[in-house]
Amino acid sequence: MQIIDTKAQLEAILGKYKKDGKSLGFVPTMGALHAGHISLINSSKKTTDITICSIFVNPTQFNDKNDLDLYPRMPEKDAEMLKNTGCDVLFMPLVDEIYIGENGFEGFEGQKRFKGAEAFHFEGLDKVLEGKHRPGHFNGVAQVVSILLDIVKPNKAFFGEKDFQQLLIIKELRRQLKLNIEIVGCPTLREKDELAMSSRNMLLSSEEREAASLLPKLMAEAKTLKEKGKSVNEISGYFKDRLKNNTLYKLDYFAICDSENLTELTAFDKNIKSIALVACFVGKIRLIDNIFLD
Ligand code: PAJ
Repeated sequence: MQIIDTKAQLEAILGKYKKDGKSLGFVPTMGALHAGHISLINSSKKTTDITICSIFVNPTQFNDKNDLDLYPRMPEKDAEMLKNTGCDVLFMPLVDEIYIGENGFEGFEGQKRFKGAEAFHFEGLDKVLEGKHRPGHFNGVAQVVSILLDIVKPNKAFFGEKDFQQLLIIKELRRQLKLNIEIVGCPTLREKDELAMSSRNMLLSSEEREAASLLPKLMAEAKTLKEKGKSVNEISGYFKDRLKNNTLYKLDYFAICDSENLTELTAFDKNIKSIALVACFVGKIRLIDNIFLD
């Protein structure tokens, strides 16, 4: 596996592969890799010739400085995992490599933003759920993903359904920028107790980690309740009540939405594929998850 930290070097290497007619698969990440990330690498390996993974903790998508500072970083361990999976190229740029030059740099204090970070509009998709609770988050994601896709120019790029709203935003970004790149959504990998794998899970104390098991359990119950004919209100009410009783939890949102556009549903409709999405704090750590209800 080649490990690269500059755009110029990466473009040179990938240029050679493209000249040889190889197809490129790209998996952007923020590192602290787990089996969920590795499943994206495996999907890429199965369907493309050369797999590129990036590790870049993107400052513009963090609306909370504490969250950015806390974000786990373990590049050596990540590189080892990627090598063992058969990833071909690992791109690990520093912040200046991504945000200096045509993207500019406008300081980095408090609610810092890099030039161009507010340039994206997603017709409301970026204003609900995660977008509402983390202002500017999806603009930061769109900014870095558009820069990375422009550098790598892959045939396919792989994203997890774990971050379902992000996946829809990236598909919309592809449409708006008219990118000739296939965006592939991949299923969520889970721990033994069904907690969705996340780099943030390792920040939970053992007590919090144990308590976090309740989250996937309640999500599964939401699905069962839907199957039993309960209404949107009844399911939401049940979910919220169950979390209220647990002092380690603080709920940001629980919503049942149309999975096409994340419009919140007030009633189920057999023509709409519904999805339940949740974000909550367990202690100081914010977790998200989702489940299709149909
Ligand atoms: P990160 O949280 O590192 O996730 C990288 C990719 O892995 C995302 O597409 C995410 O949806 C996927 N992923 C995370 N947990 C998963 C799981 N349990 N099962 C399957 N896939 C999972 O998402 C980001 O980074 C960033 O926002 C990024 C897109 C890299 C832009 O900075």
